[in-house]
Amino acid sequence: MPNIENTPSLVHLRAMSGYKIVVAALFGAAIWLIRLLIRERSPKLDFPVMGSASDSEFSQAVLKGFEKANSPFIIPANPQLVILPMSMYMESKAHPAADVSAETNERFMGHWTRVQNTEIYSAIRQDLSKNLNIVLPLIQDETKYAFKELNIQSEWTSVNINSAMLRMIALISGRVFVGSPLSRSEEWLDASINYTRALSKVQDDYLGLGPVLSNIAAPFLSSYIPDAHKTATRVGEDQMIVSAAMAILDLASRPQYIGELREEVETVVAEEGEQNEDGNIYLGKAAFAKMKKLDSFIKESQRFNSLAFVTPAYKLLSNATFSNGIKLPKGTRITFPHQGLASENNLEAGNAGPDVFDGFRYARLRELPGLESKHQAASTGLNQIQMCPRSKDNLTFGHGPHACPGRFFAIYEVKNLLVELLLHFDFRLAGTGDDRGQEAIRPANVAHKISNMPNPGAILEVRVRRA
Ligand SMILES: *[C@@H]1O[C@H](CO)[C@@H](O)[C@H](O)[C@H]1NC(C)=O
Ligand SMILES: *[C@@H]1O[C@H](CO)[C@@H](O)[C@H](O)[C@H]1NC(C)=O
Ligand SMILES: *[C@@H]1O[C@H](CO)[C@@H](O)[C@H](O)[C@H]1NC(C)=O
Repeated sequence: MPNIENTPSLVHLRAMSGYKIVVAALFGAAIWLIRLLIRERSPKLDFPVMGSASDSEFSQAVLKGFEKANSPFIIPANPQLVILPMSMYMESKAHPAADVSAETNERFMGHWTRVQNTEIYSAIRQDLSKNLNIVLPLIQDETKYAFKELNIQSEWTSVNINSAMLRMIALISGRVFVGSPLSRSEEWLDASINYTRALSKVQDDYLGLGPVLSNIAAPFLSSYIPDAHKTATRVGEDQMIVSAAMAILDLASRPQYIGELREEVETVVAEEGEQNEDGNIYLGKAAFAKMKKLDSFIKESQRFNSLAFVTPAYKLLSNATFSNGIKLPKGTRITFPHQGLASENNLEAGNAGPDVFDGFRYARLRELPGLESKHQAASTGLNQIQMCPRSKDNLTFGHGPHACPGRFFAIYEVKNLLVELLLHFDFRLAGTGDDRGQEAIRPANVAHKISNMPNPGAILEVRVRRA
């Protein structure tokens, strides 16, 4: 049996049988061999290279490049990435040669997985942001249902955070996008969860294969992705799951934040909560806007745990010359140093330095005159890059929900999960025991090449809240 690990034929080997396995094995072996022979030809460039192609992950390489020079550098990922200084961000985004959607399509093999479906984005824009008063109760109702499904008792119950988030976000997003009862059917959930997994697998395989081979492999991979779920929303969903899991891990490993966050949420519920016909209390847009500490905590969690060390790449569709004289040839994949950006931070308001997790740093910044509505999780800088790569808007506050509807939706889902968790449950990291005196060790994130994931083995212990 040839070594066909990491080849696309294994994506769903378990779901195959008989001759299909043989075909898959042959196909995999062929791909593996060709991969040894062909490397994608990236344009030859005269910029310093940070890190080496064999690095398992590039966070340090990106950081080094970011700190070293305010000029372009290369990360030897496959395909190769050119990291530009932030001073070129606005110009690059607006540059006619830079095609973010072409790059996203290619990365997710949009042609096959239909990720490029921009109608989905306009649907999100119209249906979600404009109808937040309808969407928010749906999110809240389904979040309650998703917690109920976990069947948490009065004694500590162990929950794998990643698996739980995968299912809970599938339930919540499904409720909004397809409605219940379909969204709660095992068939839908199964397909939906499989698809989220398959999509990230497709992306990994692509990154390992290069564009030529990916094109050959795409139809093959595509046959394992259920048709009904090939939409752009799924890409956002992946980020939501990761953001939610990261935030919960940060909170469970820093229990000193729990009391203050609970207090904020309870105050807001008392002031803004509205009782629906079903007897449950619902929170509207204004209520979420008042939870400044929670918003700050989520934003800090995102700053501290980049979902990716670089921003989503754009591909140059033709040669490009920038106003600072830098010339880049057609085919170059350009991106920005997310990892570096995350290490810079506003120190106003007596905030801690960038290496410190400071959950309320953004809430304190918002207390400064004139900054009341800046520094929100869904509105500015880093987060916009992270959650909203396609937006051509400026990296400044003030574009409102229309700048990136998906990002607003994602933040509401994550916030609501935390609100529910804080209000109704006690939680701690597994192994913490009853001694809450010492901080629990947060299971390390797992970095791979340019991406960063929460530890897949992270276990949370949860029980119905006692006090
Ligand atoms: C989801 O994946 C599991 C395990 O790989 C498989 O048994 C199941 O049939 C898949 N479901 C769908 C709807 O594709
Ligand atoms: C693009 O730039 C390369 C050199 O970087 C050059 O050889 C090529 O002719 C240019 N193409 C066009 C269309 O200008
Ligand atoms: C973005 O910023 C540039 C320069 O600061 C400005 O000229 C442009 O109008 C801005 N675009 C939007 C959409 O605000």
